[in-house]
Amino acid sequence: MKKVLILFAHPTFEKSRANLTLIKHIKDIAGVTFHDLYERYPDFHIDVEKEQELLNHHDVIVWHHPFYWYSCPPLMKQWIDMVLEFNWAYGPSGKALTSKACINVITTGGSKDLYCTEGTNSFTVNQFLRPFEQTANLCGMDYFPPYAVMGTYTLTDKQLTQHGKEYAKLIDLFQKDLKIAAAEGCFFSNNIPQLKQD
Ligand SMILES: Cc1cc2nc3c(=O)[nH]c(=O)nc-3n(C[C@H](O)[C@H](O)[C@H](O)COP(=O)(O)O)c2cc1C
Repeated sequence: MKKVLILFAHPTFEKSRANLTLIKHIKDIAGVTFHDLYERYPDFHIDVEKEQELLNHHDVIVWHHPFYWYSCPPLMKQWIDMVLEFNWAYGPSGKALTSKACINVITTGGSKDLYCTEGTNSFTVNQFLRPFEQTANLCGMDYFPPYAVMGTYTLTDKQLTQHGKEYAKLIDLFQKDLKIAAAEGCFFSNNIPQLKQD
């Protein structure tokens, strides 16, 4: 079974509704390491060696965060800047992350209809997340389209719980066989995973 590392960044997790629900559904799954970056590094001083060791021991890397100003909260960016070192993550001798799977899991206040050419936000979330996609590409990882829970302000508790269950199913698919998941169309429908209901 593949090991999954959830790198989670939320500056105000104590006030969270959407991510709190999502995380409740995945943090205790066997083979999943839930790593809360703001809890571990409130001073932004990242232990690079420790983070690289964690990455070495996992097959699937999840960048999980609320969408802030069309990107990630600052500690996630700091993590990327510090941990993905030249000749470790990329560069001539940088092969540490080759062939690991990578995905963004995000929550957005804006609803899906705002994220298109005609919408207020002009671009899709996949387009906004291109820097993450290319970072993963440069490091030789297999980047999957993001799992986005959108329009969080208007989602009911029941809908959020449903998303939590979907997230757990997504993790389960990553832990088992990505080829089967892709073949079943779990990842590529409308660029957001559409998971089959039980
Ligand atoms: C500083 C800040 C920036 C935000 N930027 C965006 C944004 O660019 N696009 C968007 O759709 N929502 C944005 N939001 C809304 C958050 O994404 C939303 O509140 C969050 O995903 C809800 O998750 P939570 O209940 O776990 O906090 C922003 C919120 C804050 C506080």
